[in-house]
Amino acid sequence: MNQRILVWDLPTRICHWMLALSFAGAFVTCESERLCNIHMLCGYTVLGLILFRLVWGFVGTRYARFSEFVRSPAFVIRYLAQLFRGRAKYPPGHNPAGAVVILLLLLLGIASSVSGWAVYEEIGGDWLEELHDYASYSMLAMVFVHIAGVLVTSYLHGENLIGAMITGRKRGNANQAISGNKSAIAMLLLTVLIGCLFWAWPE
Ligand code: HEM
Repeated sequence: MNQRILVWDLPTRICHWMLALSFAGAFVTCESERLCNIHMLCGYTVLGLILFRLVWGFVGTRYARFSEFVRSPAFVIRYLAQLFRGRAKYPPGHNPAGAVVILLLLLLGIASSVSGWAVYEEIGGDWLEELHDYASYSMLAMVFVHIAGVLVTSYLHGENLIGAMITGRKRGNANQAISGNKSAIAMLLLTVLIGCLFWAWPE
């Protein structure tokens, strides 16, 4: 377990940090009429990145796949109990509890960006604006839970998980490493997505 092995492919890492940036951008511009275009662009980028991440969860590399990190509630509770007793196994990919927050972030991101788009297009009424606010603030709360979870599990597992999301590398056995980034597939997917989003950009 002393080797540094590649677990997060490059598309997953770029997607993650762009998601963090565009979410922050959407939040700091949400109250300003002057920055409304930037707010929309950031929200739209959040939507594009999450759509990319959802597809990547099926076609991406091993630890980016949903099948690798979505677990039953009983499994998650067992993991948390073991973690606080200092007996949890260190997973090469996402830990089962962090994965729950990740799924919530993706769902709330979809709800927030799609409702924002619908508000701008004037589809629906006041309830859509309320949904947009509710989803966005819930997502902000989840981001804090996410960051706190990352810091706690970094401490308990004795590895800097933020550094791992930058370099893609964690400690593990050679046979657990992914063999590449699947960058060509990611580029193809991104081109299709950007085309679709460009087409659907509000007038
Ligand atoms: C400075 C702020 C942030 C830090 C330090 C951070 C850190 C991390 C780390 C270390 C991981 C990997 C966790 C693991 O090892 O299992 C991760 C995953 C993830 N984070 Fe963050 N994060 C931040 C902000 C955000 C924001 C704002 C969002 C969403 C809006 C977000 C969404 C995600 C998602 C979706 C994943 C899963 C990555 C994947 O499999 O594609 N993060 N984050």
